[in-house]
Amino acid sequence: MSTPMLEIVNLHVRVEDKEILKGVNLSVPAGEVHAIMGRNGSGKSTLSYAIAGRDGYEITGGDIRLDGKSILDMEVDKRAAEGLFLAFQYPIEIPGVATMTFLKAAMNAQRKARGEDEMTIPEFMKAVQEAAKNLSIDKDMLKRALNVGFSGGEKKRAEMLQMTLLEPKMCILDETDSGLDIDALQVVSEGVNQLRAPNRSMLVITHYQRLLNHIVPDRVHVFSDGRIVESGGKELALELEAKGYANYEGAAGAV
Ligand SMILES: Nc1ncnc2c1ncn2[C@@H]1O[C@H](COP(=O)(O)OP(=O)(O)O)[C@@H](O)[C@H]1O
Ligand SMILES: [Mg+2]
Repeated sequence: MSTPMLEIVNLHVRVEDKEILKGVNLSVPAGEVHAIMGRNGSGKSTLSYAIAGRDGYEITGGDIRLDGKSILDMEVDKRAAEGLFLAFQYPIEIPGVATMTFLKAAMNAQRKARGEDEMTIPEFMKAVQEAAKNLSIDKDMLKRALNVGFSGGEKKRAEMLQMTLLEPKMCILDETDSGLDIDALQVVSEGVNQLRAPNRSMLVITHYQRLLNHIVPDRVHVFSDGRIVESGGKELALELEAKGYANYEGAAGAV
């Protein structure tokens, strides 16, 4: 079997002396889109922060591998240079920095970390204009400061634009229901669907079944009490919608 794009092996994570992740095992093959669903507080965001390498998330056991390489000892920017992209529930606002300028800096930082030359201005302009067109982003939005005063849908558009331009191998999207209005939902699902590719994998974290009507995942995993307690095909998302998570409560201990 070929190397999975993302492989999480028996991952244990502690936050402020409390064990939150209790042995997560997950394998996402190249080209696949997987969804993780679970109740609030089950540890989904902790998983995405641990993968991102955020401070304060102490890995006490296990491993996280990107395309066969452990990323645990890599700094956040190194993980990005290796092809990891994380979209968070609450995007940061950067007053005074035009979205366009931010995108250029992000792309060039990644190139530098890979030992590549900076993009020329015409190359950059061409890439941005093409990606913006595909995501129905108008030029005015690119001139505004990143995320400042953006609507939910605009924030998601900016995020999908970053994702497109950085050409990641592994995308992780952590979504809450509260952050996604209909417009934002459509932007995210269109962005994800456009970026599906044989050498790119995605992990969509949500407790929102509706998102998965638009992004049809290859696999669905149910998260409960800090680990994956059930995995199945896309029909598992519908089953969860109908029956809820009650069947899985306490299941973690039994596995
Ligand atoms: N910074 C933190 N300090 C202490 N406990 C935390 C922190 N962040 C999350 N937790 C706890 O970790 C558990 C999982 O939270 P989280 O990963 O945000 O779940 P989800 O994203 O599934 O809603 C919860 O019990 C939450 O209270
Ligand atoms: Mg969360």
